[in-house]
Amino acid sequence: FGFSFKGPEMPLVCLRDFEAHAREQLSKSTWDFIEGGADECLTRDDNIAAFKKIRLRPRYLKDVSKVDTRTTIQGEEISTPICIAPTGFHCLAWPDGEMSTARAAQAAGICYITSTYASCSLEDIVATAPGGLRWFQLYVHPNRQLNKQLIQKVESLGFKALVITVDVPKIGNRRHNITNQVDLMKNLLLKDLGSPEKGNLMPYLQMSPIDSSICWDDLSWFQSMTRLPIILKGILTKEDAELAVKHNVHGIIVSNHGGRQLDEVPASISRMTSAWIDALTEVVASVKGKIEVYLDGGIRTGNDVLKALALGAKCVFLGRPILWGLAYKGEHGVEEVLNILKNEFHTSMTLTG
Ligand code: FNR
Repeated sequence: FGFSFKGPEMPLVCLRDFEAHAREQLSKSTWDFIEGGADECLTRDDNIAAFKKIRLRPRYLKDVSKVDTRTTIQGEEISTPICIAPTGFHCLAWPDGEMSTARAAQAAGICYITSTYASCSLEDIVATAPGGLRWFQLYVHPNRQLNKQLIQKVESLGFKALVITVDVPKIGNRRHNITNQVDLMKNLLLKDLGSPEKGNLMPYLQMSPIDSSICWDDLSWFQSMTRLPIILKGILTKEDAELAVKHNVHGIIVSNHGGRQLDEVPASISRMTSAWIDALTEVVASVKGKIEVYLDGGIRTGNDVLKALALGAKCVFLGRPILWGLAYKGEHGVEEVLNILKNEFHTSMTLTG
């Protein structure tokens, strides 16, 4: 892992430019870690390709002199429906990692979902951007007490929702990590699981284990200990969406983890003729407006954002593009990524009426 900080000659004008720049800038193992998907990367690549198969139907002679991109998620206003998905280890892309991300999100007026695998402490992330809207993403730890402490901590730190990632009962098979001999369990420290005050736990845990026994019935345990809305990340089917509604969850992020978990699941937005293969539409139809549905995976342009919203997502989340922005110029790189996408989305809204 490692980085150098040379700037590009040409201005970066779209998210793909940031990707190309990050590829040049980052060490091979960091680049592979960020970009990689599971197995043959079919789903990762489908996430991008599926958006490109959808065409727009513009309507004209509508007054588009005022276009407002603001919306709300879980009752909180955001400046545009483009937010930051949880990704781990931002310090790999920029020295102060998640602190830069948090400041950029606050400046943009959007939501930043902080990962369990953040490489900065939650206190530092909050202190550096105290006015930002943040949700916390939880990988459920096998030790229930640790989860409880962590949830109480994020609640007291002002995080506004708990996002439980459901698609990682074990880490997907990422071939590049094996090739590069990257062992995340050994190389990276986590500062937020564990409780030094209690004395009986390690102050710094390595990338924590994930409880693979969690079931639908366990959700009530999480609900009993927090007032935060609970959002499930990684739902892809109507069956699970219905169960989420039945278990009083407040939101769903339709996601295949950027194609990093189970390969050959549908792209999050794919529009195929058979209904079961279309993750977003099938989930949106089955929840019948009872809870908010969001999407991540493959968002790279303003048109992508528009398509996801048109098919029922309340907002979208960005994974890799945020890390490309960080690798470019830290906080300011992330701000640029968010601004470019927001402007593109504004154009998409205006030109489609
Ligand atoms: C992720 N993702 C992820 N998800 C999660 O719930 N917790 C995490 O810690 C991480 N970590 C992580 C690291 C890296 C490097 C990547 C690329 C992704 C998945 C992430 O939240 C999101 O689902 C995808 O990244 C969305 O796809 P795009 O925008 O990267 O195409």
